[in-house]
Amino acid sequence: MELTQREQEMLAGRDGKAVQLAMEILTRVGDACGAKRLIPVKSAHIVLAMYKSIFDAGVEVCEKFADMGAKFVIPTTLDPCGMDTADPEGFKTPKDYMEKQNRVVKAYQKMGAIPVWTCTPYLGGYIPRLGEHVGWTESSAVAYINSVLGARSNRETAVIDICIGLTGRTMEYGLHLDENRRGQVLIRLDLGGRELRGEEYPILGYYLGSILGSRIGVVDGMVGKPTSEQLKSMMAGAAASGSVALMHIVGITPEAPTLEAAFAGNAVQETVTVTEETVAATWAKMSTKKESEIDFVAVGCPHYTINEIAKVVELMQGRKVKEGVQFWIYTTKSAQMLAQRMGYEQALAEAGVKLTMETCMLISPVETWGFKTIMTDSAKCAYYAPMQCKTDVIFGNIESCVEAAVTGRAGSGKGESV
Ligand code: F3S
Repeated sequence: MELTQREQEMLAGRDGKAVQLAMEILTRVGDACGAKRLIPVKSAHIVLAMYKSIFDAGVEVCEKFADMGAKFVIPTTLDPCGMDTADPEGFKTPKDYMEKQNRVVKAYQKMGAIPVWTCTPYLGGYIPRLGEHVGWTESSAVAYINSVLGARSNRETAVIDICIGLTGRTMEYGLHLDENRRGQVLIRLDLGGRELRGEEYPILGYYLGSILGSRIGVVDGMVGKPTSEQLKSMMAGAAASGSVALMHIVGITPEAPTLEAAFAGNAVQETVTVTEETVAATWAKMSTKKESEIDFVAVGCPHYTINEIAKVVELMQGRKVKEGVQFWIYTTKSAQMLAQRMGYEQALAEAGVKLTMETCMLISPVETWGFKTIMTDSAKCAYYAPMQCKTDVIFGNIESCVEAAVTGRAGSGKGESV
């Protein structure tokens, strides 16, 4: 790779051992990826954060950088912590696990990370702008910032994310380059000109991820103005069932005001039509069981916003979670503070719903509870829970999640009582 004078000095150790090591890693990986140079980035987001997925080796990596005096030189946010940050004991986090996770927390504190502990830093923490180059991990967040905000990031990986934060640079390849952001696959929504219902955003994301892989899809025919929450759930689904990092939605993605702009001269490799049947068949595939007793309702993957929490409050009014069932909302500290101020947290607690803070639905020690069947409104959770949590999973809309929490049974996921 061609390095600037300044970068050569960093590589030679002028900024200390941590930056030197980070530069060694970035230049070697950059060579392997065919990058010609490094480019400055405005922020980094780190996935190397949850003890359940980084194990002892990950803890040592964080501590090694911190002990070398590493300091982040750009705003660097953190993915969810591997345990509830407010009440790890209450969520049955094993002692040894807690100790290891706390070592990670301390190491990042030393390095100056922004401890948002969320997979939705783009909603608060660091909000990248159109055309801005950043170096982020967390597949759902990368898909969101490329597709909804028009920022530019590859799906970076653990350790590389730390190196980006320490140097303020990433390798110039992939989605940082104009020519790699052009559409490849045309997806026509053929749903009779109607708007998608809430649960259909994650379903559509799940379906598109499964057919696109890492190709760039162009969605044509989306009616209405989806909310940030709906796009968040769609992007998380697409980034879970496929390696989607950018998807153009015509009229929504800033780089795709028209179909022509989305393809930018690229030939259409394939055309896929999404019909009512596609949506129904995908929905059916997202559950491992059709109708079942459930013992865990988990929502907030990606983290719930205050608006999503408000919806649960409304649906739970005058109702209580059934004995023997747990109903948890995964969310951020900032949304929890608002929920507290608005009286939502108390109302939910009285109904038996818990807010769990700054942690991940899948990458936390949830298996210590011995749950058998999870009900969720998250496509990403539906995709990973059977592997990560070793449970059955039923996907449904938030109405059916609430219904399942109250009755202890889940049906088709379409909001009806069973
Ligand atoms: Fe967030 Fe964990 Fe889901 S990082 S997107 S809650 S798998």
